[in-house]
Amino acid sequence: MARAAPFPVALLLCLALACGADAARKTVGVYELKNKKGDFSIKVTNWGATLMSVIVPDSKGNLADVVLGYDTLAEYVDGSSAFGTVVGRVANRIANGSFVLDGKTIHLNKDGTTVLHGGHRGFNRVIWTVKEYVPSGDSPYITLYYRSFNGEQGFPGDLDVYVTYQLSSPYHLSARMNATALNKATPVNLANHAYWNVGGHGSGDVLGQVIQVLASRYTPVDRSMIPTGEVAPVSGTPYDLRAPTPLGSRVRLVSGAGMAGFDINYAVDGWDGDGGLRKVAAVRDPASRRALELWADQPGVQLYTSNWLSGVKGKGGAVYGQYGAVCLETQGFPDAVNHPNFPSQIVRPGQVYRHHMVFKFSF
Ligand SMILES: *[C@@H]1O[C@H](CO)[C@@H](O)[C@H](O)[C@H]1NC(C)=O
Ligand SMILES: *[C@@H]1O[C@H](CO)[C@@H](O)[C@H](O)[C@H]1NC(C)=O
Repeated sequence: MARAAPFPVALLLCLALACGADAARKTVGVYELKNKKGDFSIKVTNWGATLMSVIVPDSKGNLADVVLGYDTLAEYVDGSSAFGTVVGRVANRIANGSFVLDGKTIHLNKDGTTVLHGGHRGFNRVIWTVKEYVPSGDSPYITLYYRSFNGEQGFPGDLDVYVTYQLSSPYHLSARMNATALNKATPVNLANHAYWNVGGHGSGDVLGQVIQVLASRYTPVDRSMIPTGEVAPVSGTPYDLRAPTPLGSRVRLVSGAGMAGFDINYAVDGWDGDGGLRKVAAVRDPASRRALELWADQPGVQLYTSNWLSGVKGKGGAVYGQYGAVCLETQGFPDAVNHPNFPSQIVRPGQVYRHHMVFKFSF
């Protein structure tokens, strides 16, 4: 999959996107944020507003990169993986790629039956504009901006989208997203699709890691991974992760799209739409003793245990295989546009969608 890139990345991008003279002026780059001590840093690219690396220490001061990814921008552009990207306009699945909004049926661009992560060229496969970049200091940050156009992948109306990644003390990474509908009502559901491995991206599978998801209910799906519409209790099922649980003890008991492992949306306990942060999930690696706690303000979180990951050549020669990472994608419920009983994702002109998540690392 990884191959030598004979062209400069900007040229490659233009070949990939057939961009015109104007778009060609947008360049894709890598932006680093680093704390003062130098032991906590991230790299971001404006291709897909992607989190390329997150480097954190352990108790012995050993630094590790705890997200999966590629070494080069060309691989992000060419690759089919969503490693670290921001997915939208609507993350997750929309049944049949269609829904009814204000009495009108909207048909999204689709390849198969389901539209996943906003379509084949969603927000994870476009060039964002770097609005602000403060690489160092007490709270380094970067703000990325994307103007999604009316009809993009079939979605109605123009949409202004901002994503800000910021580091703060002690070892907190926050991602703040907002989106403003400019002229038509539209669903909006953004998510960050980082593949976390707190043992280090190249440390093998996460089956020995301990996970906790603070959710008493989940949204069961049918064989095509579309929610049935139920919001069912986890109690008495293998989906109950309210107490810290080794992933390896559960992955064989659950499956998604015919593959063993978690690929399911949870209804986060205590969510009431007030915009307050709530603890959503935690992952701990007993070997390195590194841990990640995720706080967010969204109704749901998709837990995906990289069930389909196989032989992907990643950073520094690492090869990523099945269960090589966990994705904890805070967001609205999947296919909410077709389930009136799920929290609405419709944003009307002038309204603002907001999503705040904080990844807290400890060791
Ligand atoms: C999707 O299409 C199937 C048939 O292919 C139909 O049974 C189902 O009701 C449709 N779902 C929605 C949400 O439109
Ligand atoms: C969205 O976020 C950006 C960047 O932080 C900010 O400048 C803008 O005011 C925000 N938009 C709204 C409507 O809050």
